[in-house]
Amino acid sequence: MVFLPDFHINMTKNMNNIVDVVGLDIGSSSIKIVALNKKAGEKILTAYNIKTIPSGTKYSGMSDIIKEAFEEIGLCSPEANLAVSGPEVIVRFINLPKMDKSQLKEALTYEAEKYIPFNFNEVVLDSLILGDAQESGQMNVLLAAAKKEYIESRIKMVERAGIKVNIMDIAPFAMFNSFFNAEKSLKQGEGYAFLGLGHTQTDVLISTGNAPCFMRQIQIGGKNVIEELMRGMGIKEKKAQGFVLDVPNKDQAEKESVSRIITEVIEGLTREIQLSFGYFENRYNTSISSVYCCGGMTYRAETINFIKQKLGVDLLRWDPFEKIKISENLSKSDIDTVAAQLTVGVGLALRD
Ligand SMILES: Nc1ncnc2c1ncn2[C@@H]1O[C@H](COP(=O)(O)OP(=O)(O)OP(=O)(O)O)[C@@H](O)[C@H]1O
Ligand SMILES: [Mg+2]
Repeated sequence: MVFLPDFHINMTKNMNNIVDVVGLDIGSSSIKIVALNKKAGEKILTAYNIKTIPSGTKYSGMSDIIKEAFEEIGLCSPEANLAVSGPEVIVRFINLPKMDKSQLKEALTYEAEKYIPFNFNEVVLDSLILGDAQESGQMNVLLAAAKKEYIESRIKMVERAGIKVNIMDIAPFAMFNSFFNAEKSLKQGEGYAFLGLGHTQTDVLISTGNAPCFMRQIQIGGKNVIEELMRGMGIKEKKAQGFVLDVPNKDQAEKESVSRIITEVIEGLTREIQLSFGYFENRYNTSISSVYCCGGMTYRAETINFIKQKLGVDLLRWDPFEKIKISENLSKSDIDTVAAQLTVGVGLALRD
C-alpha cells in the first residue's frame, strides 16, 4: 500500500557507503529499524535497532529518539519506508464492477465515502485490484484510507529527525510481506491468519491462499497487560514491566496474581480474535487452517499457549530473516531473540 506515490527514490547510505533500503516501524513502545542491502538479487541485513520509547514521551520528543535510533547504528542521511497503523487507518475489502486502475481511481472519488467512516477531504486514499470476484463481472478491491492529519504528523515527526519518508505501508501488510519473503507459498482456497501482537494493538490479517481478504486492528496489547497489573496489584509501571518480562520472582502469591491478571487480558484479546475468525469463516465459508504470529507479546510462552488452547489451532512463528543473509558484523543468535519485533520493519525494508 503506497500512500506517497510521488516519492520514488528509496535509497539510503550507511557509513560504509552501502546503499540500503530502510524500514522504520515506529511502534507505541519502541522504534524498530531494519536496513537491507539488495544487491544482485541477494538481500543482506546490514543494520537493525530496537529503541525503547521511554514512557511519557510526548509527540515533540519522538523525533530525537528516532534520530538517536539511526545514529546508534551508524545510518546517516537516510530515507525510510514507514509503517502506518492504528484507528486512523481503515482498510476495506470491497467488490466493484471490473475496471482498470485509472477507472478505479476515478470511481473511488465518488464511491469511497460509502466505505470509509472519515470525511473524504480529510483522507489519503489508496487502492489495489486483488483479482476477479466470485460474482461474474466483479472484482475484489482493497481500499485503504488514512487520515491526512495522521499521515502528515507522522511524516513531520520523521522529517524532523532528518529522515525522508519514501513508501508508507500499512503495518499488517508489511507483516504479510515479510512472511512471503521468508516462507513457502500458501495453499489456494485455505484460510490463514496472521497476528501481530504489539503493545497497544493486535493486528489480524486473514487470507485465503495468498490473497488477503480481512484485516482488523484490535486495540488490545501488552499495554493493557501492564495497566491491569498496575491496577490489580497496586504497583508501579516498572514493577509491572518486570513481571511481564518474567523477572524471577520467589513470591508464590504474587506469581499467581500476575498469571491470573495476564490471562484475563489475553482472554479478552482472544475473544476478539475469535470474533474476527468467525466473521471470516462465515463470510468466506473457509476455515482457518494455520495461524502465524509475531510481535513482542509472542515472547511469553504462557500467552502463546493460552491463545493456542482457546483458538484450538497451533500458533506458528516464522523467521523473517530466513531468506535474508546477515552481515558479518551482526549476530544471528542476537537477532533471533528480537526477530518477532522486527517483522514489520523487515516487511517495510523489502518494499522498493
Ligand atoms: N520478553 C517479553 N516477554 C513478554 N512480553 C514482552 C517481552 N518483550 C516485550 N514484550 C511486550 O511486547 C510489547 C512490545 O511489542 P512490540 O514491540 O511488538 O510492540 P509495538 O510495536 O511497540 O506496539 P504497537 O505495534 O502496538 O504500537 C510490550 O507490551 C512488551 O511488554
Ligand atoms: Mg508494532
